[in-house]
Amino acid sequence: MAAWAMFQARFGYPPAVVADAPGRVNLIGEHTDYNEGFVLPVALPLRIEVALAPRDDGRVRVGSSGFLAESPRIYQLGVEAPGAGWLDYIQGVTATLHQQGVRLRGFDAWITSRVPPGSGLASSAALMVALLRALRTALALPLDDLALARLAHQAESQFVGARVGIMDQLIASLGTPDTALFVDTRSLAWERVVLPPTLGLLVIDSGIAHQHAAGDYNARRAECERACALLGVPALRDVALADLPRVEALPSPLRERVRHVVTENARVLDAVTALRAGDLARLGALCRASHASQRDDYAVSVPAIDLLIALAEAEPGVYGARLTGGGFGGAIIALVEPARARSIGERIVAAYAQRSGVCPRLLLPAP
Ligand code: GLA
Repeated sequence: MAAWAMFQARFGYPPAVVADAPGRVNLIGEHTDYNEGFVLPVALPLRIEVALAPRDDGRVRVGSSGFLAESPRIYQLGVEAPGAGWLDYIQGVTATLHQQGVRLRGFDAWITSRVPPGSGLASSAALMVALLRALRTALALPLDDLALARLAHQAESQFVGARVGIMDQLIASLGTPDTALFVDTRSLAWERVVLPPTLGLLVIDSGIAHQHAAGDYNARRAECERACALLGVPALRDVALADLPRVEALPSPLRERVRHVVTENARVLDAVTALRAGDLARLGALCRASHASQRDDYAVSVPAIDLLIALAEAEPGVYGARLTGGGFGGAIIALVEPARARSIGERIVAAYAQRSGVCPRLLLPAP
């Protein structure tokens, strides 16, 4: 059921506004955003919807279906406290708006989602941007799309405590169909790059869930910070390909982590050129190199993901495949010939299920 119908059914009156925001898949540029580098995400046709109506008091009542929990949860504006599970994403938005001097009212909200949580498809960013869009319309807040992305990012990194970069919030707020968003996360300059019609995207969820707020992601960030201190640079963005010989002198695993970030930034720039030229063979080769770098240097892949990648690459009609998102589980993206996307996806899913006993999900093309 759509969010507005659920809202009406559960709260007994119609919502004032309905807003939504997309999940994303990252074409290339992984673990570069918090190093002030380049990213190239694409918005998915899978979206999170929020139906909302302001209240006259300072209470927030929010429920969700197809996402996190059915029954509505309640809290009071002004006394948000982290540690309440998925409600932290909602509390994070209201606490951050308040901190930025925005005068809020309480509200009732119902959330529906087609972005699976824990699949590396940025469901949390989609949720927070969709909620911010609903609040912006309902309360006529003077916030542009970039401001929404920054607020969602602040809420997730400071309130929820997952020290993520800003890629996911930017694509949730600025993404449009059939384009990739090329972002320089240092300046936040962004540009849409049209996806050629000859490029099909396949996204498969491994079924192995990840959790950013849990240690691994933050551990990678800390390693990058330690490497910056040793190299004497403000961010790994400041390390060029030509500096790699100096990087080799770092202790392991910092050397490997830096090598990934530096080569991945270069791959994003190459990928933008390849995309504009419609050079899918080149784009595929960059994806394969990106996956190898994530697996061997950044150590964010897991055996299940490597198996999916191997199965994808054995298929004729696949240009390249890689782990997408934060890693430690989640999803893969494969670049394929559009007409063969579904049949290739179904074969990979079946072969993986047979080999591992776990049934992955074909998320794109949507079943
Ligand atoms: C997660 C984070 C992003 C980014 C990716 C890895 O999705 O939310 O900011 O760091 O991991 O590229």
